[in-house]
Amino acid sequence: MSNRPYIVGNWKMHGTRAMLAEARAIDRAAERLLKVEVALAPPFTLIHATRKEANLIGIGAQDVHSADGGAHTGDISAAMVKDAGAGFTIVGHSERRANHGETNALVKEKAEAAIAAGMNVIVCVGETEEERDAGKAESAVADQLASSVPVGDGVAEKVTIAYEPVWAIGTGRTPTAEDVGAMHRHIREKLGSLYGEEGADVRILYGGSVKPDNAAELLTADDVGGALVGGASLTAESFLGIIMAAAEAHEDKS
Ligand code: 13P
Repeated sequence: MSNRPYIVGNWKMHGTRAMLAEARAIDRAAERLLKVEVALAPPFTLIHATRKEANLIGIGAQDVHSADGGAHTGDISAAMVKDAGAGFTIVGHSERRANHGETNALVKEKAEAAIAAGMNVIVCVGETEEERDAGKAESAVADQLASSVPVGDGVAEKVTIAYEPVWAIGTGRTPTAEDVGAMHRHIREKLGSLYGEEGADVRILYGGSVKPDNAAELLTADDVGGALVGGASLTAESFLGIIMAAAEAHEDKS
């Protein structure tokens, strides 16, 4: 595992070609911040153009279908996004789990399809507010990990986990650094059960209302290997604030 912080922007359903200027600015700045691994997951429609604009940063998709191809109107396969220039895909984002009824089993199939197509995957997990209030945050995340994370020979090195508490997404609310650290340690333990020794090298990102002004604190919590950023990745200015905070936090740690 690279120990560089991994900062990934998830543009969700935002962005037309006018936003390529932001991607270009992010890419230029990333050239000066090599201590941080930077990636963007734009909407499908911008993957190819973003790949052409950006030389250094990783480009990924936000979802893929679990099948290689076929009669699935409106869906996109892993091979298609790879052909368009994506090196990774996010799977199991809570918005897909909630808006499209995606189950753990489907998320795992999608992750397997992406890996079979030669891509890396970021598998998202995270508890709802009700689960946290009921003291079930860790067990909810453990269930998701057990059933939606792909396993097998050589798979661990293709996988990144993103811990995104559902109640923190787009709300401006975040867990404390202690709570983030506790959950990341819990996830690390479960990765040990899934992957054995290789589980130690899987990166665990935190996501949910990461902004330039809270990034340093969240990124220095225990076992946080980077961030999955929604709203604050939409402009180069705010995303670069987070990338710079990650570079500084990394310097302080090492
Ligand atoms: P926000 O950063 O907008 O809270 O979104 C987080 C997220 O869902 C990233 O995948």
